[in-house]
Amino acid sequence: MTAVNENFLKLKAGYLFPEIARRVNSFVESHPDAQVIKLGIGDVTEPLPQAVIKAMHAAVDEMGDRSKFRGYGPEQGYAFLRDKIAEHDFASRGVTISADEIFISDGSKCDTGNILDILGKDNHIAVLDPVYPVYVDTNVMAGHTGSADSEGRYQGLIYLPVTAENDFTPELPDEPVDVIYLCYPNNPTGVVATKETLTKWVEYAREHHALILFDAAYEAFITDPEIPHSIYEIEGAQEVAIEFRSFSKNAGFTGTRCAFTVVPKSLMVTTSTEKQVSLHQLWNRRQSTKFNGVSYIVQRGAEAVYSPEGQEQSKALIAFYLDNARLLREGLEAVGISVYGGVNAPYVWLKTPQAFTSWDFFDELLNKAHLVGTPGSGFGASGEGYFRLSAFNSRENIEEAVKRFQKIVS
Ligand code: MLT
Repeated sequence: MTAVNENFLKLKAGYLFPEIARRVNSFVESHPDAQVIKLGIGDVTEPLPQAVIKAMHAAVDEMGDRSKFRGYGPEQGYAFLRDKIAEHDFASRGVTISADEIFISDGSKCDTGNILDILGKDNHIAVLDPVYPVYVDTNVMAGHTGSADSEGRYQGLIYLPVTAENDFTPELPDEPVDVIYLCYPNNPTGVVATKETLTKWVEYAREHHALILFDAAYEAFITDPEIPHSIYEIEGAQEVAIEFRSFSKNAGFTGTRCAFTVVPKSLMVTTSTEKQVSLHQLWNRRQSTKFNGVSYIVQRGAEAVYSPEGQEQSKALIAFYLDNARLLREGLEAVGISVYGGVNAPYVWLKTPQAFTSWDFFDELLNKAHLVGTPGSGFGASGEGYFRLSAFNSRENIEEAVKRFQKIVS
């Protein structure tokens, strides 16, 4: 008899975004004329930078030329891309990360899930609440939790609430933690972590021999010059943190797929038999066994993001989405809604009006304004009473969304 991974049975029925899509599709079926504006999933809408398109076209031509054709690439990514990342994302900010500590992949969602392959079963794992659901669901799948309670909190995970009451800044855990997921700029709340906050976490991890899984997929949206872009800007972080980065949101690669994960060589973990093990070696072993790298064409496209034209064009994209976020923020504040985030991030996090629950507000917005957002409670129990709007959309849709929102709220 075939046995299944019964941990999957502990999961809530659907992953958050497909569940939203299901509800929206059913609404659209019964209201075929409704002009629905989707500010739910954080998916980019603007085309890829021209510099990227040009580089990918050139790479396609190479693949059609026997003398330039490439088969399997290095599982860790091509040197041309890893070198650029080391220089532009790290050296330029005073951080020394060597190119071979960077692993190119097809997405941060995949990597933040896959990283569990190299971690043991008995870690005490902490997540912020609300949280990007992938961190929780992948731990459930891996059997690191018990079942969920009525509010959706899984037994065995340590939830650190982040709400307006604590300024969206979590307290350090008061019980032992071995692995902590941090995401800054934060998804879903859109807030950032100061240097002091990150220093506190790095010190905590060093003192408790804990590992920080730092998701910086929205790093390019940081506008405040005081805010660190990488956890490695904090002294000592290279001994306690893995960082995840992505081209999805900074250069429009959600459909093209390219990201990278940094696993410093100085990141050592002591086993139960007092053996020192390098997480870099384990991840390298994992990737070379289970992954054949990102397509050459896509990596050439990602490389072009670092060219002067690519930089200019991707910065313009970010500025465009940030302006959308500002319009959302200002439009909501104008009708008395409490709004957070959206300054250094593409997400605007708001308190639901009139004491609506998150899902009731989702239905209200969909039914009365034909607007789609993401219910805060979908990100965790402490997200109840909040709602997320994504700034990834056309200007026209954002302006229209603000008008409709204002109409139903005021
Ligand atoms: C989101 O809406 O939170 C993002 O699209 C998630 C992701 O990038 O996977």
